[in-house]
Amino acid sequence: MKFIFLSFSGENLTKSIGDLFVVGTETTSTVILWTILYFLHHPNIQSRCYKEIQVVVDSGRLPSMKDRLSMSYTQAVLQEVLRIANIVIIGVPHTVDEDIIFHGYHIPKGTVVMPNLDSVLLDDKIRRDADVFRPERFLDGSGQLVKREEFIPFSIGRRVCLGESLAKMELFLFMTILIQRFEFKPVDPDNLPTLKGVFGVTHAPSKYEVRAVPR
Ligand code: HEM
Repeated sequence: MKFIFLSFSGENLTKSIGDLFVVGTETTSTVILWTILYFLHHPNIQSRCYKEIQVVVDSGRLPSMKDRLSMSYTQAVLQEVLRIANIVIIGVPHTVDEDIIFHGYHIPKGTVVMPNLDSVLLDDKIRRDADVFRPERFLDGSGQLVKREEFIPFSIGRRVCLGESLAKMELFLFMTILIQRFEFKPVDPDNLPTLKGVFGVTHAPSKYEVRAVPR
């Protein structure tokens, strides 16, 4: 068994936790921007989420984590956004710590490997019409959420995203509360903002404007 020794001083522990907040805020807020953008293009999907939230949540209270199991459609929408927006296209670089043979390829120790999530999330051979926004792909015949092995926006394996559970929780709470309180409308319905993203730290939507109308 290998051991890795880490030593933290108070100062660098504070900095590391600060970094987690930064990376967590950038990623989660980018997914929220994508969700609102997809709502502008699919107002029927936004309105179906709103109706589901209204049925589950008693008047006046905010949605909470316990409502998650009763909101399969809204969850399917968030999963479809995570899939199609694919915000971390090229995962974090990793290094091979010993020589390995993978699918017939020799990868020498020290090689930097960058997982390409695009090749799974947006591959037509893996799922039909991969470039079409269709939340129903995450629902079964009776409208229940289904687990799909190929849904890996947080990557897989030992270096899977550290913040996966936190991000899913934040996305569910922020989005259901926003949908409950606001209707998102385009500024110019005849000229919807593009769904073409820009690549930076994350794959983010191009800058767009939206009208958030209080319900
Ligand atoms: C929707 C939001 C998020 C998405 C889609 C996402 C996605 C990812 C992906 C794809 C990786 C690369 C994994 C790999 O290289 O195999 C990653 C790594 C990481 N993520 Fe996230 N992430 C999100 C939110 C967060 C949050 C909220 C935090 C922290 C609070 C976080 C912390 C990290 C860290 C520390 C790593 C590096 C893990 C390692 O290399 O061992 N992420 N994330």
